Amino acid sequence: MKISEALNSSYKLLNIKSKTHKLDSEVLLADVLKKKNRLDLYLNLNQSLNKKEKSLFFKYIDERKSTKPVSKILNKSHFWSFELDISKKVLIPRPETEVLVDLVTKRIEKKSRIKFLDVGCGSGCISFALLDFYKNSSGIAIDISKQAVLNTKINFEKKFSTKRLKIIRQDLFTFKTQTFFDLIISNPPYLKLSEYSQLDKSIKQYEPKDALVADNKSGLKFFENIILKLKNNLKLNGYLALEIGDFQFKKIGKMLELNGFKIEDTFVLINNQVRCLVAKKVKN
Ligand SMILES: C[S@@+](CC[C@H](N)C(=O)[O-])C[C@H]1O[C@@H](n2cnc3c(N)ncnc32)[C@H](O)[C@@H]1O
Repeated sequence: MKISEALNSSYKLLNIKSKTHKLDSEVLLADVLKKKNRLDLYLNLNQSLNKKEKSLFFKYIDERKSTKPVSKILNKSHFWSFELDISKKVLIPRPETEVLVDLVTKRIEKKSRIKFLDVGCGSGCISFALLDFYKNSSGIAIDISKQAVLNTKINFEKKFSTKRLKIIRQDLFTFKTQTFFDLIISNPPYLKLSEYSQLDKSIKQYEPKDALVADNKSGLKFFENIILKLKNNLKLNGYLALEIGDFQFKKIGKMLELNGFKIEDTFVLINNQVRCLVAKKVKN
């Protein structure tokens, strides 16, 4: 079977199941054939798949048909300029989180020597983007999940040679540090249980619930803790960057204002909801 035939047949198999059936097929086949990217497939449409490659590719297509996300099939995903290992029990990084980092890079100069704290590091994606952009930076990444800490460590060792990131298994709610940061950044769990139950089946089946659900009431538990407690570890004129949930901006905005912060930038989704914000600590 040639690449062109394998693709045509997988497009048909995935067509009803996935809106991104072409992209999914190409990413999966490029991985099976160890191609640099999808374009490489198009440059070699007549190349034949051997028996092993064909069987692995259609195994992946079967998994995708049962709604498993491509990143969970391959155990890897892309964030910023990196390819990251994504273990089973760790959240797949989302494009909005790249925007969060982007907002920070518009506020803090590239050559700055910053110290940051990444709360709920997951795969480590935010920390790596910061370490990559701010070559003089160093940081602390915490997560309550053993798998997330391990995943961040594995990814970190693959990408960076120097010890610029301290990766610790820690519960935010008991976390204490003497360090003062220039930036505290977090994409914490922010869904209410009722919102979680309405999520797509594939998210509930393949993504860790503890990475998504904050609490039963408002979904604000993590933000309250970060703003009220961690503000004491943020330098004056330091930045707090948060990814937040739908309909949370008003309350979080108020909380920030009451605690000496000024919101400097936001990212608004097509549904008019603020998904990311950057606030500056203007009062001690
Ligand atoms: C929405 S995920 C974000 C992961 C990653 N930063 C990203 O943007 O893809 C939230 C992370 O917070 C972690 N988490 C949940 N409860 C926590 C707690 N009490 N203390 C620290 N981390 C926690 C989860 O394990 C998960 O990795």
